Amino acid sequence: MPSSEFDQTLVLIKPDALKNSLTGYVLSLLSEFHTGLRFAGAKVVHVTRMLAEEHYAEHRGKVFYPALIDYIMGMFHYPNEPHKRRVIAIVYQGFNAVEEVRSVAGPTDPHVAREQKPGCIRSLGTLVPLRNAQGEEIGRRMDNLIHASATPQEAEREIKLWFKPNEIPPHMRIYAARICEDHFYYKDDRVFAEYIPGSVCLLAPGDVAWETDIQALELILRGQPSAVPLRTVVAKYLTNEICNEC
Ligand code: GTP
Ligand code: MG
Repeated sequence: MPSSEFDQTLVLIKPDALKNSLTGYVLSLLSEFHTGLRFAGAKVVHVTRMLAEEHYAEHRGKVFYPALIDYIMGMFHYPNEPHKRRVIAIVYQGFNAVEEVRSVAGPTDPHVAREQKPGCIRSLGTLVPLRNAQGEEIGRRMDNLIHASATPQEAEREIKLWFKPNEIPPHMRIYAARICEDHFYYKDDRVFAEYIPGSVCLLAPGDVAWETDIQALELILRGQPSAVPLRTVVAKYLTNEICNEC
């Protein structure tokens, strides 16, 4: 697909960047002057386990996956300060948004980043040994400061995972959204059309939601298979709300 000035990508400023007060520096490197990209959405998010697992779903089952989830949730950088566990989520918009941000971010592994692209954001990252109960090294965690969508398809999935349509100004939105006409409630990995005790109201008539989210909820409510998993839809509605699990 040809690039357009409406292209979007998702950036997460990860807990290691926040802890080391690198946010301002990262934002400067990603500024419109350097990348030609504009903010289309931005927020501070306390990352629930569900959101972390959905975000990194492609890495489920890999050796580094459990540490990756704890890392993005802020468990490593703020083990005893849950109120500091957060990331900054940003939607950037402009020509070649995905490639522009990936280029400034640099290679995934900070050691490789330092070698191949000194000065890129991830060249300021670090590798942290992971040890088992016996103290033996079983792998390494890559603390690489930011997440950046790898493809336009990944950007769409991730932006819809982290942002509601009304968190992006209407003229900047590029994915279909519409006004919901039904109630959808969630409890214990199930969707309900009516309130049941302990359930959370995800959407109500009048709410603006991603078209794909509404379609998924309608299918799941009817017991039909949905290409978008329930937790992918639900995760963003359960963040920055009540925090039961962390
Ligand atoms: P993100 O922007 O964070 O998605 O990084 P990426 O797209 O450059 O890499 P990828 O999606 O493959 O990996 C996601 C995250 O998992 C990385 O940012 C790393 O923190 C971690 N990771 C990826 N590959 C490895 C690996 O081989 N070993 C370890 N320890 N961590 C890895
Ligand atoms: Mg990735």
